[in-house]
Amino acid sequence: MIPDPDKENHMTLTDLAATSTAASAPAHPLASLTATEIEAVRAVVLSLPSTTEQTRFAYVGLDEPAKGDILAWEQGAPAPARVARVQLLDMLSARSSDLRVSLATGEVLSETVLDGTAGQLPVLDAEFEAVGDIANADEAWIAALAARGLATSDVVLVPLSAGHYGYAQEDGRRILRAFAFQQFSPSDHPWAHPVDGLTAYIDVADRRIIEIVDTPGFDIPQTSGNFDDPAVQGPPLEGLKPIEITQPEGSSFTVEDEHVVWGDWDLRIGFDTREGLIMRQLSFKGRPVMYRGSISEMVVPYGDPAPNRFWQNYFDTGEYLFGRYTNELELGCDCVGDITYLDVTLADELGLPRTVRNGVCMHEEDFGSLWKHTDIFTGSAEVRRQRRLVISFFTTVGNYDYGFFWYLYLDGTIECEAKLTGILFTSAYPGEGYPFASEVAPGLGAPYHQHLFSARLDMTVDGIANVVNEIDAVRVPISAENPAGNAFTKQVTPITSELVSGRVADGARNRVWQIASTEKTTAMGQPTSYVLFPTETPVLLADDDSSIAARATFATKNLFVTKYDPAERYAAGDFVNQHPGGAGIPEFIAGDEPLVGEDLVLWHTFGLTHFPRNEDWPVMPMDYAKFTLKPYNFFERNPTLNVPPSTAAHCAPKAVSGGYGPAGHDHSGHDHAGPDHSGHDHAGHDHHGHHHG
Ligand code: NI
Repeated sequence: MIPDPDKENHMTLTDLAATSTAASAPAHPLASLTATEIEAVRAVVLSLPSTTEQTRFAYVGLDEPAKGDILAWEQGAPAPARVARVQLLDMLSARSSDLRVSLATGEVLSETVLDGTAGQLPVLDAEFEAVGDIANADEAWIAALAARGLATSDVVLVPLSAGHYGYAQEDGRRILRAFAFQQFSPSDHPWAHPVDGLTAYIDVADRRIIEIVDTPGFDIPQTSGNFDDPAVQGPPLEGLKPIEITQPEGSSFTVEDEHVVWGDWDLRIGFDTREGLIMRQLSFKGRPVMYRGSISEMVVPYGDPAPNRFWQNYFDTGEYLFGRYTNELELGCDCVGDITYLDVTLADELGLPRTVRNGVCMHEEDFGSLWKHTDIFTGSAEVRRQRRLVISFFTTVGNYDYGFFWYLYLDGTIECEAKLTGILFTSAYPGEGYPFASEVAPGLGAPYHQHLFSARLDMTVDGIANVVNEIDAVRVPISAENPAGNAFTKQVTPITSELVSGRVADGARNRVWQIASTEKTTAMGQPTSYVLFPTETPVLLADDDSSIAARATFATKNLFVTKYDPAERYAAGDFVNQHPGGAGIPEFIAGDEPLVGEDLVLWHTFGLTHFPRNEDWPVMPMDYAKFTLKPYNFFERNPTLNVPPSTAAHCAPKAVSGGYGPAGHDHSGHDHAGPDHSGHDHAGHDHHGHHHG
């Protein structure tokens, strides 16, 4: 099992690692790992004495240089060394290790071996795949299926992360919990046919079922969920004519390696197996705004306390590494217009480089009117159109499909939007009035749940010296100063230290969080700033004393703020899988660092609370959750006065018989009768307030 201990072979592998990377280190120290670098990491790992044939690569990614080193490099200091972070799982012994490997020398800089009691490495595909064989060889499982009239060949298994519930037999072990779903044919979607009341708890490394939770009495729902079957779809909707987006002169952005320039924006992007798309070093009109933005964690806690599913919750980032399930996108289907696709290079579980073709999509979208005025005194009539640069990826994690879309606007606005589609997680509906699930088809339940995303926003608003202020709208009582009682004002509360940084959105107070420079001001003396506009949906609804509240503490508030620490990357900690709780945010804020005039990271929870509706079945129309960052006194005035008017050709009204008069009479400033009414934002804009539930 141990690889050839031959000294020469060992040396050769290590030497190969060193030479192959030294020759090909990317020009930028934050560049995503290249295929060559991934191969070099693999060579180093294969040369380790602890590596066996059962060793799998749970994670390979860039161990990012600290921000200070990058900023120093930009000022002329030497480039920080390229280092990879590698997490290894031995499938048989469950030995789990976390290494840092120098890409310059092939040296292992550090190795931590996990004992498994403070979290496990993420779940591997190889483990998901093993579950079927393990269960199908278990006589008690076979008997439980037989009692329901089923053979193992009638069902597919859905293995899920186990969470942590203090069971002694799971302590330090790699555990998955699995449901069965009946599948009537290879093209039949099994989500429609949950075999409820039956769950297997599986020790994956031991390759055995350690417990079967069997609650008889549930019928298997029979209605087809085959949304891709023309017979289920019904006759095609008629009358939809093609919509084609054309950009005859091409798109307005450039992308070279991972460096993107568009309008006044300059940024880098990156991609990671765990976090997916990373937005780096965003600056607008040459001024820094955000050093790094990513989805650092997400959790989908289910609210059904039934004995078979009380444990159901998934950390799609920390437990499953959603970046590795990134879709290969298709031209004209996932994105429309003049599209630039970027391939993504990841490591597979054997440590080999794997290319996700067209993993990241970049394009521009028209976004309706940017600003507009028709003046009664001067006769001036001006309108400019807004547009946005869209950088996105889609990932499929089991039954759900998530899109993550970052939008940059001409006026300096940044938005991040999660898009949710795919298939509901289903149960057998227990009966009328059941308070923890919807009945979405006859006998088919869809347990209530939340989707809570943690955006890690490492802000640098006009530099690294920032403060976060909570700004509330407040009423003012009638007084000598306010005799008519019409007054209202805003209340600005600085968030002074980490332990008081946990904040909840409050729509009734118009609550926002301002990230302000403590060094730069406008000519009028206001601190330059960006403002985070949350959407006020519930934070984690599970009880404060629940396991999930301990493990997903980040999701109990909409905001936490921490002083930048390069080791603090993930909102629920590094090793989320089966972690007993207390990692991530609770650790990050424990030191209660002061936050005024410091280098700050915002951890923003946003998301949806999903009470499924019939229309979400058998496949969910897209739902949305987002947040917005807008410049606020970052400029002296509207920064988009210099956006040129659109050309007449794009705004000319179409001649309509009996309609508004001849085509082309309009000059570009008017677009009232155009085919795409510019006062109306197009499809991208219609999701405000359109939330689950
Ligand atoms: Ni949902």
